[in-house]
Amino acid sequence: MSAKPILVLGAGVSGLSTAITLLRAGLPVAIWARELPPHTTSNQAAALWFPYLAQPLERVNRWANVSLQFFREQLLPDPASGCQPVTVHDLYDHPVAEPWWAAAAGGDYRRLDPGRLPAGYRDGFETESVVIDTSIYMDYLVAWFRRLGGELLQKEVASMYEALAVADVVINCTGLGSRQLAGDDSVYPVRGQTARVRPNGFGEALLDDEGPNSLGYIIPRSADIVLGGTAQENDWDLSLRASDRADILRKAAAMHPAFAEVEILSEGVGLRPARPTVRLEAEALPDGKRLVHNYGHGGAGFTLSWGCAEEARMKMKG
Ligand code: BEZ
Repeated sequence: MSAKPILVLGAGVSGLSTAITLLRAGLPVAIWARELPPHTTSNQAAALWFPYLAQPLERVNRWANVSLQFFREQLLPDPASGCQPVTVHDLYDHPVAEPWWAAAAGGDYRRLDPGRLPAGYRDGFETESVVIDTSIYMDYLVAWFRRLGGELLQKEVASMYEALAVADVVINCTGLGSRQLAGDDSVYPVRGQTARVRPNGFGEALLDDEGPNSLGYIIPRSADIVLGGTAQENDWDLSLRASDRADILRKAAAMHPAFAEVEILSEGVGLRPARPTVRLEAEALPDGKRLVHNYGHGGAGFTLSWGCAEEARMKMKG
């Protein structure tokens, strides 16, 4: 390996996790990013470990499981990380043999007794997950990256050649930016709006990703509860919409009566970088340089972050 730093493009959760993984392996790393925390798409996420809106299922389940173990072993023990354990109830309006994310959870899930299902649901599963307060965690990742000796630069590149001119290995973690930088029209936005509400003592995360209140979720954190969501494909609008707010509040109240009345603290909008399948692959370039792509994680950026980072590291070597 040359002494030139590996260049990671993007300082969202995928870029930072990949860069930290490389530094932990003893490799020199720099990050260039158009936006830095707290201004990244990742900062807007209702970050719950759950492999939502990402394919292909088999690889996604594997990356999610690697990440879950990493969160449990490396991040939950440190209260400064902004990560906390949370029990998730994933809800269905029809009987389900096994949740599609069973392998991601390492088989660690339980069917909910009918008495624990909210009105309108016929099946559901409980699993032990992790909730990530992005307002803490993204800064924590930046500090970790810098502590390990990484260089972070706010710099927008107009083309991949600009990055490849200064590095022998470039790792592309630019999410939607890959439309332009990698010429990839298959990555597209799925708009998500959320509302942070005052805590009311409710302690479990509820999720409906295909039932009557889809996409609906209630995600308790230490200082607030995040209510969501929306999943509007090819919608680039970053402004808040009153109609989405009303829909989010209606869905939360339908999922649990404790949310019949809420006090909104703040709201957010983010564009999930969706793709038919996550792009995690290496391109060997004619001049001997290497370009590794790690983007298109949909609604599972945090959930896949450490698993994809580890695979990106492997792909870097060839
Ligand atoms: C989201 O993308 O909005 C999301 C994904 C998984 C769990 C909760 C929210």
